[in-house]
Amino acid sequence: MTDNAVTDTATPDTAATGPADARVAAEAARRRTFAVISHPDAGKSTLTEALALHARAITEAGAVHGKAGRRATVSDWMEMEKARGISITSTALQFPYRDCVINLLDTPGHADFSEDTYRVLTAVDCAVMLIDAAKGLEPQTLKLFQVCKHRGIPIITVINKWDRPGRYALELIDEIQERIGLRPTPLTWPVGIAGDFKGVLDRRRGNYIRFTRTAGGATVAPEEHIPADEAHAAAGVDWDTAVEESELLSADGSDYDRDGFLSGESSPLLFTSAALNFGVNQLLDVLVELAPPPDAATGIDGTVRPTDGPFSAFVFKVQAGMDSAHRDRIAYARVYSGTFERGEVLTHASTGKPFVTKYAQSVFGQQRATLDTAWPGDVIGLANAAVLRPGDTLYRDVPVQYPPIPSFSPEHFSVARGTDPSKHKQFRRGIEQLDQEGVVQVLRSDRRGDQAPVFAAVGPMQFEVAAHRMATEIGAPISLEPLPYQVARIVEPEDAEFMNKQVSAEVMTRSDGVLLVLFSTPWRLQGFQRDNPEIKLRSLVAAADG
Ligand code: G4P
Repeated sequence: MTDNAVTDTATPDTAATGPADARVAAEAARRRTFAVISHPDAGKSTLTEALALHARAITEAGAVHGKAGRRATVSDWMEMEKARGISITSTALQFPYRDCVINLLDTPGHADFSEDTYRVLTAVDCAVMLIDAAKGLEPQTLKLFQVCKHRGIPIITVINKWDRPGRYALELIDEIQERIGLRPTPLTWPVGIAGDFKGVLDRRRGNYIRFTRTAGGATVAPEEHIPADEAHAAAGVDWDTAVEESELLSADGSDYDRDGFLSGESSPLLFTSAALNFGVNQLLDVLVELAPPPDAATGIDGTVRPTDGPFSAFVFKVQAGMDSAHRDRIAYARVYSGTFERGEVLTHASTGKPFVTKYAQSVFGQQRATLDTAWPGDVIGLANAAVLRPGDTLYRDVPVQYPPIPSFSPEHFSVARGTDPSKHKQFRRGIEQLDQEGVVQVLRSDRRGDQAPVFAAVGPMQFEVAAHRMATEIGAPISLEPLPYQVARIVEPEDAEFMNKQVSAEVMTRSDGVLLVLFSTPWRLQGFQRDNPEIKLRSLVAAADG
C-alpha cells in the first residue's frame, strides 16, 4: 500500500452492469446474517454447533466450540482462553442451508461483557435471543436485548434446554412480554413439559414433529412429522395440552405477525434442546423463511446504498494475535453492497487511500480459507489490515461512509504502567495500537501523566486481553491498577475544572479528545446532577448516536 496515492476511483473499469446488479440482488436476497445473544451458559456454543451440524457444515458436534473433554476448540486463539475453556473472540461461520447462505456471527461467550459483543451487533440483520428454560431472562440477555432494540434489530426468541426440568412455557412467554415488552409469537410449542421434551406442535402447519434422541447428541436427531389427527395417538395428553395452550395463544393474539417481527415489536419463538439437537431444523427453517435478508444501508450523509449498488463494507471488528505462530491482525468487514472480488483495490473511506484486498479470508473457527468472492451480508476477514479500525468503511467507485460504531459507556477503569522501563517506546506504541483497535478506550489526564494512561472498558475481560497482548505481542508488559470509578459521562471543557474539584470524580481526556468525567458510583453521579442541574453531562452512547 502506498501512502501518497489518494484515489476515489481505484478500479475505474468496474462500474456495475445490469445483469451483474441482478446477480448481486439475488445473492443478497439469499443471505441471512445473524448473531445469537444470550447470558453465559444458556447454550449459545452448543446451539452454534447444532446449527452447523444440521446445515452439514460440520460432521460432528464439538468441532466449533470444544468444551473440556471434547475436541479442540476452534476459536481458542489465546492461551488464556484455553486455560479457561471459554471463547473470547468472534468467529464468523458461514454455511449453506436450503437455498440460503447463513452467516452466523459469534459473540463472545464469557460472563464478562465487552464492547466486541456490541460491535458484532452492528453487523447483523437479525438476532436470536437464546433463553435457558429454567432461568428465563437473565441480566446479560436483557442488556443485549436493549442493544438490539436500540438498533432496531429483529429478534427470534429460542427457549433452550427444554429437555431439562424448567418453567412452564406460558409463564416464560408472559415474562418476556411483561419484562421487556416484546410480544412472543410462538411458531412451535413444546409437546411434553420441560424435562420431558417429546417434540413440538408446529403452529404454522398444525402437525406434530416428534424428535428422537441420538447418542450423546452428537448427530442430527431424527424427526417424524405426524399429522394432527394422529398426534394424540402418538403423544397422548401431552399433545392435547400443547393444542389447548396453542389455542390460548391464538386467542391472545400471539400468532406470527411479520410487520411486528420486522419492526422489533413481536418475536417469533421456538423451543429447542441444543444439546439433543431438538428443534434446530425448525430454527434454520425460520431463519430462511422469515429472517430479513440484507437491506440497503444508509451513509452518514443520509445517502442510501442499495445492496446491488457499488461495493461497500463496514469493519465491525479488528482482531490480533489469533495465531501465536504468526502475529497477524484480521479486520472483519461486513459487506453491505455489491460484489467483493479478492485482489481488487478498494478505497478506505476515512483516509481516502487505496486498500488492497489480496489477503481476504473467510474464517470458520481456526480453519481459514482464502475467500475469492463475497456478497451483501457476508463477512470478509482481511489479514494484514494494519490501517483498518472498527467503524471504518471500504468502498468501490462511488464514495460512501457508514456511521461509526458508538463507543459505549465504560464501567471499569484501570491505570496501565509499563513494568519494564527499557520498553518505553514499545509501551507507547502498544497503547496506541490497542486504542485504535478498540481493545480498550484510553484516557489520559495531566495529573496522571503520559506514563500512566487509564484503560476504560465495558467489561474487565477487555483489560486481560489488553495486558496479554502488551506482554506477548508488543513486548512491553504492563501492570494494571484498578481505579474506584464505575460511571463515565461526557463533560463540556468549560466545566472540567469545576468537575475535577468534586469528591469522587475525575476528569480525563479520551484519545479522540472527548472529555470524560468519572464518578465512583451511579449514586454519586445522581447526587451531583441533582445538586448541579446547570452542569450538562452527556451519556456516551447517546453522544455517539446523536
Ligand atoms: P454458552 O455458550 O451460552 O455459554 O453455553 P454452552 O453452549 O457452553 O452450554 C452451557 C452448558 O449447558 C453446557 O454444559 C451445555 O452442554 C449445556 N447445554 C446447552 N444446551 C443444552 C440443552 O439444550 N440441554 C441441556 N440439558 N444442556 C444444554 P456444561 O456441563 O457446561 O458443558 P458440557 O460438558 O456439557 O459441554
